Amino acid sequence: MVTIKTAEEIALMRKANQIVRDTLLAVEEKIKAGMTTAQVDRIVHDYITKCGATPSFLGYEGYPASACVSIDEEVVHGIPDAERRIEEGQIVSVDVGSIYKGYNGDAARTFAIGEISAEKRRLIDVTKQSFFEGVKVLKAGVRLGDLGHAIQSYVEANGFSVVRALCGHGIGTDMHEDPEVLNFGKPGHGLRLKAGMTIAIEPMVNAGTYQVYMRDNGWTVVTADGRPSAHYENTVAITEDGVEILSL
Ligand code: MF3
Ligand code: CO
Repeated sequence: MVTIKTAEEIALMRKANQIVRDTLLAVEEKIKAGMTTAQVDRIVHDYITKCGATPSFLGYEGYPASACVSIDEEVVHGIPDAERRIEEGQIVSVDVGSIYKGYNGDAARTFAIGEISAEKRRLIDVTKQSFFEGVKVLKAGVRLGDLGHAIQSYVEANGFSVVRALCGHGIGTDMHEDPEVLNFGKPGHGLRLKAGMTIAIEPMVNAGTYQVYMRDNGWTVVTADGRPSAHYENTVAITEDGVEILSL
């Protein structure tokens, strides 16, 4: 069921998402080569709890941490590890969720560690811009296929691919609500959006093939060809004439 949020509910979601945004800014400030992915998780956990919110990922379907920290060929759901050190030249996607007074925030960014290759730089930039290409077409009355198409065509015009096996989602009192928000699609198809719907839009973009597989840990999704992947996500509220990006 796709729900329409009231202004009061959107105000709480704004707060949950501002906490997520600020958490990611704190990570951006501190993340560097030599740090373990568990240390990144610690920053996230401490920041969210200090804000009076709850890390939504911790314990979600048994997930063991507050953040997903995914390096290079890891697309999403990298599990923080006290033995795993971040290295110069890597790209690191950090995905964070918080619950504030019963409402969810969800966002992700991909960070460059020191000097990175030109291809990785372009991958990060194209992934972020693909989100904004999607946002440009959004307002009440637009269909999810129009959004997916806008994201996909921008990514493919830049020579990269969108992951098909994972998608964005409605969000509210649950982190994952209907509808599924695909990063590919056909114009004029899919659910028609209404003002007050809140969705997390999260393009996952691969340098090579869109194909992915899951590691034996049951969580971490990696590219099939081992080439890098980037992730960019924000929670948005649909309005009559556009969107409000709640996590920016
Ligand atoms: N933030 C992810 C999403 O956008 C969910 C993380 S899965 C969890 O859908 F288990 F880590 F919570
Ligand atoms: Co999400």
